[in-house]
Amino acid sequence: MTPNQITLVQTTWAKVVPIAPTAAALFYGKLFELDPALRPLFKSSIEAQGEKLMMMIGTAVGGLNDLGALVPAVEGLGRRHSGYGVEDKDYDTVGTALLWTLEQGLGSAFTPEVKQAWTETYVTLSGVMKSAAAKAFA
Ligand code: HEM
Repeated sequence: MTPNQITLVQTTWAKVVPIAPTAAALFYGKLFELDPALRPLFKSSIEAQGEKLMMMIGTAVGGLNDLGALVPAVEGLGRRHSGYGVEDKDYDTVGTALLWTLEQGLGSAFTPEVKQAWTETYVTLSGVMKSAAAKAFA
């Protein structure tokens, strides 16, 4: 990712933070519309889960300048996700729901450059999660 893309992700995330509960609700609504079979994987309350998701995205977004430092935590997250029953293909569904949510929240600020920067962020993070999950079973 380029420094400009990192800045784009961080500045647009700062606009989502004040509406985080709404964004989380939109996100899960979209996710379960895209794949209702994912709903039973979530055992705790969706509100609590939404807070954790938003906090983790915030941590990841804040850490993009130093990805190396972020990797161990994201690997741990990926290993835990295989324990939650999450499969590789589910990362695509979550990515689609996340980008859609950002588009709803950001409106005209969700430019093609912003979309591309977020896509690269998500592909990077989900790639680390998936490979850590795969290694856990190797
Ligand atoms: C960048 C991608 C993702 C991030 C940052 C993320 C973040 C989180 C966080 C912070 C938790 C709290 C528990 C923990 O830390 O282990 C969690 C739990 C969970 N996540 Fe994710 N997640 C991601 C991708 C996914 C995907 C692709 C799915 C697939 C449906 C998913 C489903 C779940 C489930 C089922 C739980 C456990 C919920 C429960 O026990 O009620 N996550 N996630």
